[in-house]
Amino acid sequence: MIIKKVDLETVCGITSTLPQNTRPEIAFAGKSNVGKSSLINALMNRKSFARISATPGKTQTINFYNINDEIYLVDLPGYGYAKVSQKEKENWGKMIEKYLHTSKQLQAVFLLIDIRHEPSANDKMMYDWIVSQGCHPIIIATKMDKLKRSQVSKHIKMVRQGLGLLPETRLIPFSSVTKQGREEIWNLVEREILQ
Ligand code: GTP
Ligand code: MG
Repeated sequence: MIIKKVDLETVCGITSTLPQNTRPEIAFAGKSNVGKSSLINALMNRKSFARISATPGKTQTINFYNINDEIYLVDLPGYGYAKVSQKEKENWGKMIEKYLHTSKQLQAVFLLIDIRHEPSANDKMMYDWIVSQGCHPIIIATKMDKLKRSQVSKHIKMVRQGLGLLPETRLIPFSSVTKQGREEIWNLVEREILQ
């Protein structure tokens, strides 16, 4: 994908009405701090267009990035951040559920998992829940620059087993530091999701 134009077009909080977009959307889910906003920046070739932070819980809204007036990248708020209140956790669940249920343009959900660690109970719950909503998430194993090259395949296996992925479920290792995996993600989007 040649990026000609990016625009943060819509920001939705808990009380917002979701946009009725007419172009395809792909969404990015994953626990707080896993690297969703960093991945979206990498896909857009922007350093810090989507706000990133070392403090988890940065993105608490659903953000719709319009790419070239062709497609939306949808940054979902992260889950599993212990410091937020019960009320906020409930709101988070409702917001994501509403989005997955009502978006008419959602073509694919990418679920981000930190490649360094065994998937958490929350990761597993999120994966199962996305599947139960009728989606087939594509897994992105983030922060692969933090591993030695020799460790990568062992960790991919750990993530696949931890989530209980089916053999046909796609898993793409990615780093927003080296941009490794970026082309593979765009190729997948252009060749399979937007067709
Ligand atoms: P929330 O908005 O809180 O849900 O977090 P997020 O998933 O959007 O994570 P974000 O992109 O803000 O990144 C969190 C932290 O991880 C930041 O300090 C990033 O610089 C760092 N980070 C993200 N991706 C990578 C990566 O691929 N490699 C390394 N080394 N650091 C990364
Ligand atoms: Mg974020």
